[in-house]
Parts: sequence; C-alpha cells; structure tokens
Amino acid sequence: MCGIFGYLGPRNDAAHMALLGLKNLEYRGYDSWGVACKTDHHLEIEKHIGKISEVTNLKTELEQADTHLAIGHSRWATHGGVTENNAHPHLSQNGKIAIVHNGIIENYLELREELSAKGFKFVSETDTETIGHLIEFYYQGNFEQAFAKAIQRLQGRYAVLAIHKDHNLILAARKGSPLIVGVGSTENEFFIGSDVPAFLQYTNRVMYLDDDQMVIIGENGAYFLEISTKQVVEKRIITLDLDLESAEKGSFPHFMIKEIMEQKETIQRAINQDTKTIEILAEAIRKAHGTFFIGCGTAGKVALAGSYLFSRIAKKHVNFTFGSEFASYQDFLNEKALLVCISQSGETADTLEAIEVAKKKGVTVASIVNVESSTMARTSDIVLPIKAGPEKAVASTKATTSQLAILTLLAYATANRLKEGQYLLVSTAGEINDMLNPRYEDHIRKLADQIKEVESMYIIGKGLNYAIALEAAIKLQEVSYIHAEGFAGGELKHGPIALISQGTPCIAIVANDETKADILGNAMEVKARGGYIIGISPDNSEIFDYWIKVPDGGNTSPIVNIIPIQILAYHLAIVRKNNPDMPRNLAKSVTVK
Ligand code: M6R
Repeated sequence: MCGIFGYLGPRNDAAHMALLGLKNLEYRGYDSWGVACKTDHHLEIEKHIGKISEVTNLKTELEQADTHLAIGHSRWATHGGVTENNAHPHLSQNGKIAIVHNGIIENYLELREELSAKGFKFVSETDTETIGHLIEFYYQGNFEQAFAKAIQRLQGRYAVLAIHKDHNLILAARKGSPLIVGVGSTENEFFIGSDVPAFLQYTNRVMYLDDDQMVIIGENGAYFLEISTKQVVEKRIITLDLDLESAEKGSFPHFMIKEIMEQKETIQRAINQDTKTIEILAEAIRKAHGTFFIGCGTAGKVALAGSYLFSRIAKKHVNFTFGSEFASYQDFLNEKALLVCISQSGETADTLEAIEVAKKKGVTVASIVNVESSTMARTSDIVLPIKAGPEKAVASTKATTSQLAILTLLAYATANRLKEGQYLLVSTAGEINDMLNPRYEDHIRKLADQIKEVESMYIIGKGLNYAIALEAAIKLQEVSYIHAEGFAGGELKHGPIALISQGTPCIAIVANDETKADILGNAMEVKARGGYIIGISPDNSEIFDYWIKVPDGGNTSPIVNIIPIQILAYHLAIVRKNNPDMPRNLAKSVTVK
C-alpha cells in the first residue's frame, strides 16, 4: 500500500533522489510522504501531508544536502489519521534511528505498552513508531544485531527500512510485503524499493528479498541473511525486461486513459503466450479434485467471470471465491485441489493469505499475474503472466481485460480447443483496436457529461456478463464516486428495482447470446419505472435511451463490454473533477488485510 524508497551510493543528492523515487511510487499510497537522510553524523527529516506528485523539490535544506544515503515513504494511512506526525519516516526516541514501514504490526499495542513501561514516549498514533523504539532499546553499538532482534519481535506483515545516524547502512526486512533491491551501474550503489518503478530510472538489475530475510546495504555491498539463523543467503541478480517509457504517461493526461487505450495491444500480448504453460495449467484443472478461482476487487470479478467461462466453454465446474473469503473453504482442500489466483500486482495480502492456507493443505497453486516478479508469482507452482506492462492507475483496466483473455484461452485449452480460442481472441483484439478511436471515446464522453450529476446508477448483466456488471460498478465507484451497483438482471425484480426512479441511469450489458432476451426484458422493467437505459450491445434496441456499440465478441463479450464502461468511468471522473489515477481512500496494491 505504502511506497518505500532507499538509496546508498556515490551520488550526492540522495534526498532529492528519494523524492523522485517516491513520486514514481505514489500510486501505492498518497495521503502523506516523507524523506530522511544521513548527513555527516545527523539524521535530517522532512515530512508533509498531501500528494507528492504536486511537489518538485524538497522544501527544506535537504534539497541541497550533500548526502549519499536516504530513505523515503509515501503513506496510505492504516494506524492513525493523515497528519504530519503520523507520516513516515519515524524517529526512535533518541532521534538516532529513522524508520519507514509498509504493512501492519499486529502486536503493536502490546509492544507499545512494553516500551512505554520502559520510558519510551510515543509522538504518533502509528504502529511503525514501535519499531524505531525497539531497535533503540536493543542497540548496544551493533545496528544489525539490534535491528534483527527488533524485527523478530514483530507480528504481522511488513516491509521495514531503518537507518542510524552513526552507521552508513540501510537495513531492511520483509514479511509478506515486497522489498526489492536495485543494483546500480557503479560499484556499491544500491537502491531499495517496494516496487521496481521506484528506481527504474537508474537500474533494471534487481535482487529480491524474501520473507523472514533481512538485507544489510553498506558501502561494501548488499548482504542478505535469514533473520532467525543469521545465515547468509546468496542472491542472483535478475535483469528485468521493463523500460521507463512504459511506466510513464507519455502524451496522455492520466495513466487511466493511457492504460485503457493500451488495450489496443495488451490483449494481443496476453494471448501471445507460450502455450506450454497454458496446457500445463489446463491439464492441472482437468485433473484437479476441486479448482478454486480467487481474486480481490476487480481481480475477484475476473475470477467470477472465469467460473462462467469454464462452465460455458470447458463444461467444467470451478469454485469462485474472493481471496479474503477463501479460508472458509479450507476443510474441502487436499493435495488434489488446485488454487488459481488472479492478481495484477501479485502482492494483495488477502490473496497471499489464501495461498498460505492452500499450501498448508498441500494444494497446487497457480497464479495469473501481471507483475512477474511479485510474491504471488514467486510462490506459485504454475505462473501465467498476463504481460500487460506496468499498470499505474489505481483503477484496473488493461490488466482486467488481459486476465479475462487468459482465462478465456485457458477455458478453451481445458476443452482441448486451444486453437479455436486463440483464433477468437485474435479477432477480438483486432476489433478492440478498431473500436478504441477518438470518435468512440467522444460518444462516451458526451454520455458522461449528460449523467454527471446523478446520485446513483445501476448496471445489469447476465451469464458471462454478470461479473462484468459487478466490475462495471466497482470501476464507476472508484473514480466517479457515484453510487453504482451491479446486479444479475434477473435479480432486480426481487428487490433492487425499488431503487429506480425517474431518470435513474441503468446500464444494460446485452450480449448477443442466449441471455439477450432476458436482459432486454429486465431493462424494459427498469424503463417502465422511469429508468434511463444505456445499452452496451452489438445491436441497437428501441429500449435503449443511449446506445454504445460494441463488437459482437461471442465468448469474449466480457472483454469487449467492460471497455466502454472503463471509458465512461474515466470521463465521469474528469467531468466531476476527480483525479482518476489517485481516487480518494484507495491505493493500487492492497498489501494489508
Ligand atoms: O493487484 P490485485 O489485482 O490483486 O488487486 C486487487 C484489487 O485490490 C484491485 O483489483 C482493486 O479492486 C482495483 N483498484 C480495481 O480497479
């Protein structure tokens, strides 16, 4: 959730570099931010509330400071409100140690009580502050030892960086929350970040810190250790196939619209897979005694859509559940079961926890992820990368359609019809390429302008497009802040139809399949009660008050139908003066439970 950056090396503007690194991570958290650096024998700190994207320079003398060592943090508040005091970095009581942290220290109240009894004073409401005080408590001249002792007292999920005014070191530890070390181009230059974009402008050579490990970054190198045994761990340097340009906005005003438009290529890229892995996973699904598709938020809606795709194409039942609900199914798990996790970031805590539950029961774990270097990818037995490229807007768009494309392909492969699936998806990718033109966007922009003042809107779908109605709602909620709800069309008459009044917009997702007559009938029921019907469909209908044409995608209708809704959500955000890339209260990667 929060963004973490650290630098130690020959450059002498480490504090400013921390600011730049945090700007690249702002999608992870954006309510406040701060930087700490070491100058001679002092620690200097600067912290602010608000968005770092609006800042070009540090506001204090840190901007000009001659410093080779700095850490920084952009926050998504968990413990304590959005105040300067609660912003990171946090200092230990004697001011000699600075800490940044992502995650939640579950036993922080207990630790706080213990430290208070020893005379430590707390100035923030955060769980993080306990870490600095603990290190100070254990410190007897050896920073690494004190750090390791303190970390072993922590319960929960965390990524922690610590610096000390008397040591030219960055110490870091992780459990359940990502930390990646970047290896610079000059000797003994190291970066550390919660995500690669933090330092991608300097290096794409990385080493991964794993759970329960710490790294000591110093002037003589970076040393990885198992925290409990102090055993040295050798790490391989991996060169990532990522470029800076794909992680930037280019000529687009926002990442969200850039990423929507990238769907011209990303779906094609997703299906250009090494078919071997698709076949391996398809075979695992065919053989499994119980397959579970899971994900959270949008990825959860994709998992649900996947269960319909499997039923329709592969004639195979798969169970769907949200990541956070998976543990309730653990009694049905054994070594013959299969868990398929869907995630853009591969770092979502609820999904990672489901993997832990599954692994304890000997379940095979597969993941369909965008970030190939993520914890999820690295802990799964089978990995299908979706190859969508960095997705930075908080609202998922291109990753969603790529995940849907992979699931469609997988369903065909499971039915031993992979070629047919490939052919269908290639043709859909081409149609989406044609659809995403300025005239199409403009038609949807006009609709956004027309409905911008509404308080509520509803979305209905059926069959393959039921999950898309739910996904449409989440997209509209996230960036437009309009109350939006998705329903199975047939469910409206059982209650929700009471919410419809004169002019209430209702988006009807009408696929050209056996559900068409039913969903049109449901739309008619809404219209009869004054609803304003926005039809998303290959064909127009007299029921529609506003028609958005989509290609006739057949079994790829979930992919084509969500795209106009993504565009609508984006333009509603713009016309309502919201920042679509950084919606209030949200963060891109939800690494807390
Ligand atoms: O990185 P993940 O795909 O695992 O993230 C899961 C959800 O947090 C994510 O889909 C969230 O709902 C998005 N903001 C939706 O646009």
